[in-house]
Amino acid sequence: MTETLQHHLLPTYARQDITFVEGDGSWLVDSAGKRYLDLLGGIAVVGLGHRHPAPLKAAHEQLDKLWHTSNLFFTEPMEQLASKLSDRFGGADAFFCNSGTEAVEAALKWARKATGRAEFVSLEGSFHGRTLGALSVTGQPAKRAAFEPLLPGAVFATPETLADHVGPSTAAILLEPVQGEGGVHPLSTEVLAEARALADRYGAMLIFDEVQTGVGRCGAFFAWQRLGAKPDALTLAKGLANGLPVGAFLVGHDAPTAFEPGDHASTFGGNPVACAAACAVVDTVDDELLAQVRATSEKFANALPNVRGLGLLLAVELDGPTGPFVDAALEKGLVVGTAGPTTLRLTPPLTLSAEETDLAINVLLELLA
Ligand SMILES: Cc1ncc(COP(=O)(O)O)c(C=O)c1O
Repeated sequence: MTETLQHHLLPTYARQDITFVEGDGSWLVDSAGKRYLDLLGGIAVVGLGHRHPAPLKAAHEQLDKLWHTSNLFFTEPMEQLASKLSDRFGGADAFFCNSGTEAVEAALKWARKATGRAEFVSLEGSFHGRTLGALSVTGQPAKRAAFEPLLPGAVFATPETLADHVGPSTAAILLEPVQGEGGVHPLSTEVLAEARALADRYGAMLIFDEVQTGVGRCGAFFAWQRLGAKPDALTLAKGLANGLPVGAFLVGHDAPTAFEPGDHASTFGGNPVACAAACAVVDTVDDELLAQVRATSEKFANALPNVRGLGLLLAVELDGPTGPFVDAALEKGLVVGTAGPTTLRLTPPLTLSAEETDLAINVLLELLA
């Protein structure tokens, strides 16, 4: 007997009429038992594939030990994760939260405190989250309009006009090294170098939003490591715990700490189970896996038409709307994402095997024909 569920969910998402019940590596299984190759990876979250043994074991072990203590105390997983992220960054201190938008909120507050200035310069087309602060610096008017008035001091530039907008009242320049939600547009090394130079000239903070691009997604642990310019601070979330909720805001040791006790907080931030899983993720994203990400990326780019992106944050530009394409892909057992009306977004597990990549390419080519 099929049970019909009544959905008591606010309609903030246009959901597909599919209920997934199980995941295994690069594969998902729906409630009817149909298998799908997952080229979405929970929107760039499930970087190691579903139920990867390393974070799974770490989370299980931590579940059996300690779930929560509050941030009035230290816990081992939180300290270990901060130390691993510091090593990857080349010296940084972390604030932990539960999502990307919260990491951006921490970044905005930090930049104001660190500089005593109010203005944020971000890019048109950017996406930094849905809370009011992060939404205020998101360069997509359609997402902001219904919720105004938003935070004062948000200034939007294009990569070409950054220099016209950064000045002595800029607290921070906030950039995604590859714009994700806004259509998968990598910034050039020149633009990032200019942003670094402008921040240095005016004493502004350079913050990279690596919520989507970080944790190996772009073929290096941080995308900036492929693009040259090092930020003062950065945000992470999505792939950090392979699907458990965690966000992080990292401040490099060369930048001001700024925050003092009482300035910022998160009850669940640094949750031991999420941090234990994240430690296992960071350990698993090693040079070998990063080389595999770059190789898989090249394979997609060579086989498919109209591809852009970096690592396994890829877009395929279609001739028509994405909706029917996504539906046809699901029909054929392939889960793909979108990033705009005619842009497909591919953010598969970083662990996608050579055979799975070939299968994905063949199905995509059939659908594109
Ligand atoms: C670059 C970037 N920043 C922030 C966010 C917001 O993250 P979250 O949905 O975890 O709040 C996203 C989400 O897509 C993102 O891509």
